[in-house]
Amino acid sequence: MKHFYFIYLLLLLLVLLVVTSCDSGDVHEVYRFKSTGRTALLTGSVDEWEELPEGYNIALAAFGSTSDYALGQRILSASDVESGRLRVELSQLSDTVHTVELCVTNTLRKKTLSLQRLELASLPAQDTVRLESALRALTSASCLQKGFFDEACIRCHGGGNQSARGLNLTEGHSMAMLVNVPAASHPELLRVSGGRPEESLLHQILAESGQDVLHINHVEILHKLGVDTDVLRTFIDEWIKSLPPKDSNS
Ligand code: HEC
Repeated sequence: MKHFYFIYLLLLLLVLLVVTSCDSGDVHEVYRFKSTGRTALLTGSVDEWEELPEGYNIALAAFGSTSDYALGQRILSASDVESGRLRVELSQLSDTVHTVELCVTNTLRKKTLSLQRLELASLPAQDTVRLESALRALTSASCLQKGFFDEACIRCHGGGNQSARGLNLTEGHSMAMLVNVPAASHPELLRVSGGRPEESLLHQILAESGQDVLHINHVEILHKLGVDTDVLRTFIDEWIKSLPPKDSNS
């Protein structure tokens, strides 16, 4: 009989142990998701979408402090826009991420043009880093406008009081003044000749050998932009190739 009492007591103890451990609340803690890095969230209103030339993408990308190659990126696609609203997330940002950027990258994830930039060190330590897109159109033209003309060109071409050679490169003017328009300085050339990069004055003044084509050295201006100039030149050439030639317009 003594044995039965002992086993009964042991069972009772076991039941008590199980019940109290379930009650403690620790069980729920185990299942709580713990993120190891920050998440970047890009939102914005978008009313135009177009594929960039092959080999280039618009991306939300994370960069370290020394390299132009993205540590991680989330390529934007048409399906990220729903009822005119863009929403894209890049999660698990590691500690080595210095900036999160809306940018154009090439197939090697190399930065081609920076469109918007957030430095993480300047932000309070929070899980989600938010970026509101300033681009309403996600197209080659809008990327060139924001990342290139606005940054490097408009101070002499339409941004202040002057438009050198009558060329205004500010938003809403740049494309109409460039594409298939004869150059003022070289009337035999088009500023941008649709489909023909080499025959475009823009290509020639930005080429490494183009410092003497105009009275102002535009190659130097290109180098000051801070991105890989060869990658950017190729992107500009690919964009020119994608444009319709002058003949088909007239
Ligand atoms: C420091 C001022 C300055 C900046 C910055 C500048 N330009 Fe110019 N640009 C000029 C001047 C001045 C001319 C006229 C030079 C000449 O006639 O020889 C010119 C001429 C041009 C022309 C030829 C226009 C024509 O019809 O002949 C093009 C194309 C051009 N610039 C594009 C650009 C682009 C693209 C950028 C930005 C990467 C840029 N420029 C930045 C001053 C500037």
